[in-house]
Amino acid sequence: MKLSVPKETAAGERRVATVPEAVKKLSADGVEIIVDSGAGEEAHLPDGAFSEAGAKVEAGGGFSGEVVAKVQPPSAEEIGRLSEGSVLIGFLQPLTDGETARALADAGVTSFAMEAIPRITRAQSMDALSSQATVGGYRAALITAQELGRFFPMLTTAAGTIRPAKVLVLGAGVAGLQAIATARRLGAVLSAFDVRSAVKEQIASLGAKFVELDIGLEDAESAGGYARALTDEEQQRQREALADVIAGMDGVISTAAVPGRRAPLLIIEDAVKRMKPGSVIVDLAAETGGNCELTEAGRTVVKHDVKIVGPENLPSSMPDHASQLYARNVQSLLGLMVGDEGQLHLDFDDEIIAGACITRDGEIVHEGAKKAAGVTTEAGG
Ligand code: NAI
Repeated sequence: MKLSVPKETAAGERRVATVPEAVKKLSADGVEIIVDSGAGEEAHLPDGAFSEAGAKVEAGGGFSGEVVAKVQPPSAEEIGRLSEGSVLIGFLQPLTDGETARALADAGVTSFAMEAIPRITRAQSMDALSSQATVGGYRAALITAQELGRFFPMLTTAAGTIRPAKVLVLGAGVAGLQAIATARRLGAVLSAFDVRSAVKEQIASLGAKFVELDIGLEDAESAGGYARALTDEEQQRQREALADVIAGMDGVISTAAVPGRRAPLLIIEDAVKRMKPGSVIVDLAAETGGNCELTEAGRTVVKHDVKIVGPENLPSSMPDHASQLYARNVQSLLGLMVGDEGQLHLDFDDEIIAGACITRDGEIVHEGAKKAAGVTTEAGG
């Protein structure tokens, strides 16, 4: 198998889809690797490190493999560089970006989305949503600490005692749990809320308090361990009850998401108004519409004397480790695609290969992507 890794071209993207350590392991499995010159530069991985690990470094060689591994969805120009019959692996946003899926199908590319890998035990080492959400959650806690004009920990000093900061985490998935763990290590007092009651124990085991909202909400866990979207009435009750909790917080880190949908709106303007001046909200859902109604994606704004940070692509702000983890995820997925003699072998009877596949033989084959692309099917997506 010939694998190539291009330099990412999306604005602000500093990650790379492979790292020298992964190159070494893949080479040992008989994979030939070509890395675009400068591909790892932003993640502090010079060309020399890739060649030492066994890759061929070639300017403009990023799309020359029969398999191409990327981080971001390909641009139209990049899709034009993929040859017919080639395989593309990367984040493809299949549930929302129907246009890319359509273009990949038209180009005759067999594509696999990292987001679509089934979240089953066997696929844990391939779970790039989790690995990158871990980076995002960690970073969100640090941003909150940095932006707050107050200490996180309790301090007893000769000049008096400082009370610890109170931080609320909304959405206790992978990013939320990492934010809790990180903010706790810095000494804040943590509470957290999620609509899936299965996370109560996880929240408690990290030393945070689960916020019970007395709104008669049934457990909102759906298939695959994800949250279901709440009804309008449930959301309204949730927002009002949360406003009372948020009012007493120094920091709020919001990470609530429902796959393929706009992020749920959890923090209304009234809740922001009721926070103490100088409090901070870091809204990790900024890119999908925001959990806070005052969030502006990609910007930090001050509203009602509260700083609201709407970061975009946080994993890219920690490109070294984000790339290392992502490269490992890609390497594991490739492990399922390499035959005994190092050749490309796609087994569509394998539920991971089948589940992650978005386009094949000129068609969009993933139900969610079909829906996003407006292709109607009997199954209805
Ligand atoms: P996500 O990024 O889709 O959502 C983040 C969190 O927001 C979730 O915990 C969700 O319940 C919560 N949320 C949604 N709507 C909400 C609302 N209205 N109010 C409050 N919270 C709300 O989730 P993520 O982090 O990608 O993972 C979701 C779950 O998937 C995990 O916690 C786990 O159960 C499962 N999972 C399973 C894995 C496996 O290998 N078996 C690996 C990783 C995750």
